[in-house]
Amino acid sequence: MLILGIETSCDETGIALYHSERGLLAHALHTQVAMHQEYGGVVPELASRDHIRRVLPLIRRVMREAGAALADIDAVAYTQGPGLAGALLVGTSIANAFGFALGIPALGIHHLEGHLLSPLLARNPPRFPFVALLVSGGHTQLMRVGAVGEYELLGETVDDAAGEAFDKTAQLLGLGYPGGPALAQLAWRGRAGRYKLPRPMLEQMHKTGNLDFSFSGLKTAVQLLVRKETPDAAAKADVAASFQEAIVDVLVAKSLYALEQTGLEQLVVAGGVGANRRLRQRLDRAAAEQGCSVFYPEFEFCTDNGAMIALAGALRLGAALRNNPAGVLRLSAGGESRDLVESGYAFSVKPRWDLSTMAL
Ligand code: KG4
Ligand code: ZN
Repeated sequence: MLILGIETSCDETGIALYHSERGLLAHALHTQVAMHQEYGGVVPELASRDHIRRVLPLIRRVMREAGAALADIDAVAYTQGPGLAGALLVGTSIANAFGFALGIPALGIHHLEGHLLSPLLARNPPRFPFVALLVSGGHTQLMRVGAVGEYELLGETVDDAAGEAFDKTAQLLGLGYPGGPALAQLAWRGRAGRYKLPRPMLEQMHKTGNLDFSFSGLKTAVQLLVRKETPDAAAKADVAASFQEAIVDVLVAKSLYALEQTGLEQLVVAGGVGANRRLRQRLDRAAAEQGCSVFYPEFEFCTDNGAMIALAGALRLGAALRNNPAGVLRLSAGGESRDLVESGYAFSVKPRWDLSTMAL
């Protein structure tokens, strides 16, 4: 089965063609980072307009690279949420138009499910069940993943996401947007031991078993530090290193505790912060000491992309086919059974959407 994947939830237009037996055939990405840079963050209206400009040319490019024709596509998978409503509407409307015109299912995919499953695209994929650490610009969650559609939340952030904390701290240090990668780069030159920063919600963990995260206090601590004395270049690098070490300490400790609590031996790391080299280094070492292994998506699939959405669509479609072969053509919008004609050609996006409601 050939699945076209469309991702437009935030500031990246991602398109991919995934074949259920042959794997990923082609993928393409356009990132809007340069466009949003001068505003210091994503401007939703500009994001939507740019998705409109990019999505069809990228689909054409991917089809050409894969040597595929429209008639070869068996289903379209698109990010239906969570994300920016206007940006989501671009991918959603195009996917449903394709679905209707070609008479094939259009599957609404949860963006975080895409991230969660993205390590399955790697050469050495994990096997179900596993613990997943989802660390992106908008989310920080630990989940127990039993199978496709079986997601149990173990802990999540009560305030800022890990990526958001990286970005805000980078901004305090004058590193621009998105600051996560820049801060990580600077941290390599700094001394992590120079500044004592808090490890929020870490001490209680062993007493209460609580796997939630909190990062806004950490950002405030950096704010106070920077305000007290304007850091020179060396001090900036030390602040970056100290901050990164604090976040990594918390992420590593909680991930390992989640493995211990669930009795599982595989940890999957997904989302943009999963690209952080220090996090990978520390997780690999700590997990190995505990007899566990860590799985990462290929570098290019850590941040938003169409391949993870096409893959999630292929896995959902495969499961639906096994469960109810006759119902598949009527599958659409997050697994609800309906078709566009019956709904008066209406479709919807889900800017807020709880992943634990995603049972097959
Ligand atoms: O998953 P993602 O591409 O987008 C969503 O939020 O869905 O994640 C983007 C986030 C940003 O906050 C970015 O600063 C962070 O991931 N990020 C990093 C690194 N690369 C990306 N944070 C720390 N270290 C990195 N190397
Ligand atoms: Zn994402």
